[in-house]
Amino acid sequence: MSPFGCWGLPAALLALFCCPGSREGFEIRMYPEQLLVEPGGSKLVNCSTSCAQPEAGGLETALTKSLLQSGPQWNQYLVSNISQDTVIYCYFTCFGDQKLKSLDVSVFYPPKQVLLKLQPAWVAAGRPFTVECHVPAVKPLESLTLTLLHGKEALCNKTFTGEKNGTRGATVTHNGTAHREDSRHNFSCHAHLDLRSRGGSILHGVSEPQMLKVYGAFQSPSQPKPWGTAMLTSPGTRHPSSRSPE
Ligand SMILES: *[C@@H]1O[C@H](CO)[C@@H](O)[C@H](O)[C@H]1NC(C)=O
Ligand SMILES: *[C@@H]1O[C@H](CO)[C@@H](O)[C@H](O)[C@H]1NC(C)=O
Ligand SMILES: *[C@@H]1O[C@H](CO)[C@@H](O)[C@H](O)[C@H]1NC(C)=O
Ligand SMILES: *[C@@H]1O[C@H](CO)[C@@H](O)[C@H](O)[C@H]1NC(C)=O
Ligand SMILES: *[C@@H]1O[C@H](CO)[C@@H](O)[C@H](O)[C@H]1NC(C)=O
Ligand SMILES: *[C@@H]1O[C@H](CO)[C@@H](O)[C@H](O)[C@H]1NC(C)=O
Repeated sequence: MSPFGCWGLPAALLALFCCPGSREGFEIRMYPEQLLVEPGGSKLVNCSTSCAQPEAGGLETALTKSLLQSGPQWNQYLVSNISQDTVIYCYFTCFGDQKLKSLDVSVFYPPKQVLLKLQPAWVAAGRPFTVECHVPAVKPLESLTLTLLHGKEALCNKTFTGEKNGTRGATVTHNGTAHREDSRHNFSCHAHLDLRSRGGSILHGVSEPQMLKVYGAFQSPSQPKPWGTAMLTSPGTRHPSSRSPE
């Protein structure tokens, strides 16, 4: 049985949770407690206080704001055109005493584009190739994970750390050696922007699948040929410059 079972709470413990600082202190609350917004976005902010009759109250910010509604103990604002990370403050004055509460505003850029590049796209068996995944303009980088996949197998995972303001984009690369079987599964890249710790959700982005074309595996070692020739003679392969699939 849990010590905090519903009926077992001693009266003394209940008293601890009741009526904090009702005589002197007053509190300021902001709703929401964190603000996560896409560039140029707008959000509603509600500033409220426990002070029964505040003399003054307001919102301190460099952003565009407008007071939409208010009550004796609260003000609701629309904060708009949010383009970069910032902090906004809510204040109230109660019996000559002023208090301030801050709210972190973070601007996020979703991973809209996930660009995957295989280099070279045609490669001889046994030769090196590189898989590169790039996500331009994504933010915050410290919430981003890029995963390179070959079929369903994860080749590598990368999480990022970034300066707060940066929107430079993120890149992950993987170096491999081509095997004939590599063309059985496509390569792809998945981007996850995990905004849960900031009051958001997980945003996903996926690249187009890409196939690595491996040639030369059927060449007999006794008949070495230049790669360009091998490419044309390997069964089941096509030259990369041939346009039509027919
Ligand atoms: C703002 O918050 C206060 C305190 O929680 C609440 O009483 C009030 O209804 C809220 N106003 C709006 C417009 O949501
Ligand atoms: C929105 O913010 C940007 C940059 O902060 C500014 O250039 C633009 O004029 C603002 N737009 C409006 C409608 O206020
Ligand atoms: C990559 O990260 C995800 C979760 O972030 C995890 O499920 C997966 O096992 C990781 N893969 C590798 C290859 O580390
Ligand atoms: C972000 O950029 C703004 C102006 O571009 C600057 O005022 C602010 O200090 C920067 N913040 C960080 C954490 O670098
Ligand atoms: C892949 O190889 C290139 C040189 O060919 C090197 O610059 C790069 O650091 C390598 N990347 C990884 C992830 O090993
Ligand atoms: C690989 O991706 C292409 C599209 O780029 C698709 O047509 C093909 O079926 C995929 N192959 C496999 C094995 O999933």
